[in-house]
Amino acid sequence: MRHGRAWVRLSAHGAAGHPLTISTIRSAVPFGKGVTIRATAVLRRRTLSRAAAVGVVGQGYVGLSLACAAADAGFSVTGVDIDQERVDSLNAGSLCVAGVRPADFDAGISSGRMSFTTDASILARSDIVAVCVPTPVKDHSPDLSYVERACREVGEHMSQGSLVILESTTYPGTTDEIVQPLLEASGLASGRDFLLAYSPERIDPGNEEYGFRDTPRVVGGVTPEATGLATLFYEQLVDKVVAVSSSRAAELAKLLENTFRHVNIALVNELAMLCNEMGIDVWEVVGAAATKPFGFMEFDPGPGVGGHCIPLDPRYLAWQVRRDAGRQFRILEQAEDINAMMPNYVASRIGDALNENGKALKGARILVLGVTYKADVGDMRESPALKVMTRLHRRGARVGFHDPYVESVFVNGSRTQRTELTLRAVAGADCVALLTAHSAYDLQWLGEHAQLIFDGRNAFGSVRTPRVVPL
Ligand SMILES: NC(=O)c1ccc[n+]([C@@H]2O[C@H](COP(=O)([O-])OP(=O)(O)OC[C@H]3O[C@@H](n4cnc5c(N)ncnc54)[C@H](O)[C@@H]3O)[C@@H](O)[C@H]2O)c1
Repeated sequence: MRHGRAWVRLSAHGAAGHPLTISTIRSAVPFGKGVTIRATAVLRRRTLSRAAAVGVVGQGYVGLSLACAAADAGFSVTGVDIDQERVDSLNAGSLCVAGVRPADFDAGISSGRMSFTTDASILARSDIVAVCVPTPVKDHSPDLSYVERACREVGEHMSQGSLVILESTTYPGTTDEIVQPLLEASGLASGRDFLLAYSPERIDPGNEEYGFRDTPRVVGGVTPEATGLATLFYEQLVDKVVAVSSSRAAELAKLLENTFRHVNIALVNELAMLCNEMGIDVWEVVGAAATKPFGFMEFDPGPGVGGHCIPLDPRYLAWQVRRDAGRQFRILEQAEDINAMMPNYVASRIGDALNENGKALKGARILVLGVTYKADVGDMRESPALKVMTRLHRRGARVGFHDPYVESVFVNGSRTQRTELTLRAVAGADCVALLTAHSAYDLQWLGEHAQLIFDGRNAFGSVRTPRVVPL
């Protein structure tokens, strides 16, 4: 911890209109609430003038996106990561992080204001520090070890008068119950010597409509001053900032967003299973309901939930409710159960479709198209398509796959190389199972040449020939 170091640098850079010196700051601002007021005023001016130095801990999708946006907005940014290879690559101007838009990275790099290091001591020179490290699930429980380690490092190096923001997705209370004591372990106090806030990243990788700037930011501080400063910082980067009353409200808002998706996907997935029994086309039903211009939001059934948010983040909430309230968050846990059933259900439906065509699943050649968790992105994390492949394989099918973004996958412990999408591969498969509908797929060509298509995404729409079987 560098007590007082920030003051030296703040005065050296000066703030617009009111140059400060170390002595004026120290004499005018004794320890106590006044320090926060004074520090807040200095940091406000440094933020507005872009003189504030920004440190971003964790250079994954979230941290690098923030680093690029801050550099593009005019801040000097240092990205800190424990992965030396990643740091070297980023310093060389090479975008090695999936999901970050190349245009955003190029804007950050070409600003000349972005650099990367594994040396966390650089944070001593940061006015604003954002923590963007993973928050995985381990044994069905939150694993906050990355956040804890990163915050210990921030606490060792941060300067008095700085603003620390947690961006990692987590359960309510993490910022004030876990992060705050870790930062305070070295003697500085939140609200007195530094400001602490939470702001969730909520961007949707691959979404061409909404990017970093036009996705509103939710911000909640541990103190009102922290909320105000964090709001001001993000206002320099995005079009709209929504300030809430506490870090806990901001943490829960993020989990509500992901839980909302999880529950609504489970709703249409369960409906898909029921519709199959009832002989009703679920896609027709969802499409018809979606014509209502208010009070309905369309979600589509599919082989399960994937990616690194929806299947994992709500677990943090389910875990916390069980821990603190001693009961289940029932609708959420049921959604988890329903969505977890889907890969097995889809594998069974592929078996049924083969059966209808006089073939057994055992020994059948199945070509899975699309194994990433969603269309037109290369992200395999938690992809339900892999689970479908595993189940088909266990039931004796000969499973191959094609995906424009993926060269090989592991199925039941052995590596499977991508099958090239040739006429022979498509026509020779007993069933082509479209599980992720990348836009690169030529549906007409597939429809003409495949013996049987299981359409897990309604990509073929209203084409309902005996050769196309929808989920
Ligand atoms: N990826 C998304 O779409 C997304 C969206 C919203 C929120 N989030 C959340 O944001 C957080 C980060 O996600 P991500 O996708 O960027 O993660 P990621 O796994 O892609 O990257 C995390 C980075 O942090 C680094 N790291 C780990 N510990 C570190 C430490 N102590 N010091 C410095 N660097 C460290 C890792 O080396 C890695 O480069 C998670 O909580 C995630 O749930 C992710």
